[in-house]
Amino acid sequence: MTSQPLILQVIICSTRPGRKGPAIAAWIAEQACAHARFTVEVVDLADFSLPILGEAKHPRFGQYDHEQTKRWSASVARADAFVFVTPEYDFSMPASLLNALQCLYHEWTYKPVAFASYGGESGALRSVQMTKQVVTTFKMVPLVETVAIHEVARHYDEATGTFTAGDGHAKKATAMLDELHRWAGMLRSMREDGRR
Ligand SMILES: Cc1cc2nc3c(=O)[nH]c(=O)nc-3n(C[C@H](O)[C@H](O)[C@H](O)COP(=O)(O)O)c2cc1C
Repeated sequence: MTSQPLILQVIICSTRPGRKGPAIAAWIAEQACAHARFTVEVVDLADFSLPILGEAKHPRFGQYDHEQTKRWSASVARADAFVFVTPEYDFSMPASLLNALQCLYHEWTYKPVAFASYGGESGALRSVQMTKQVVTTFKMVPLVETVAIHEVARHYDEATGTFTAGDGHAKKATAMLDELHRWAGMLRSMREDGRR
């Protein structure tokens, strides 16, 4: 197996103005840096302005017309593992996340994904469940270990735009990152074996 550090991308999945996603992603990235087993990148879906299923060919061919899709493809392709930082809208995953997933195919394959979800009472668990169903079509491995932030407004300071973790969040994040690291290493070997 290559000795290159494993790349973890913390993906901000909400794109709306005034979103809380970046603050939560910053906290997850901080936890991942302290965990010290990944090269950590924060990736913001809002930076890609992806067209909604704007490609003529099925993404499994990897032949993209739009510059945004090409940039998105290159970004996802270099990652070994993901944490999707995701809210829930109307009991559903964000449309921005569904579109970002469906724009690509092989770039996701045989990579693990964990979730830091946030919302009201549910902690966006319905959004996570929905996303898990979608990612299995790309042969991704969605993890059981999760950080679910319930009542996110109680942990978010509107004035400063910062997130303050509650009791137990950091412990959940460590358990999630431990498991993500285990899968990321194994699945990278698997991808490399497949290329030989
Ligand atoms: C259109 C819309 C629908 C929402 N639906 C839900 C929901 O189904 N469940 C939930 O827990 N929170 C829901 N919320 C509240 C969000 O959890 C909260 O606004 C959160 O900050 C959204 O993430 P964001 O700020 O990164 O966009 C909804 C918010 C919006 C704007």
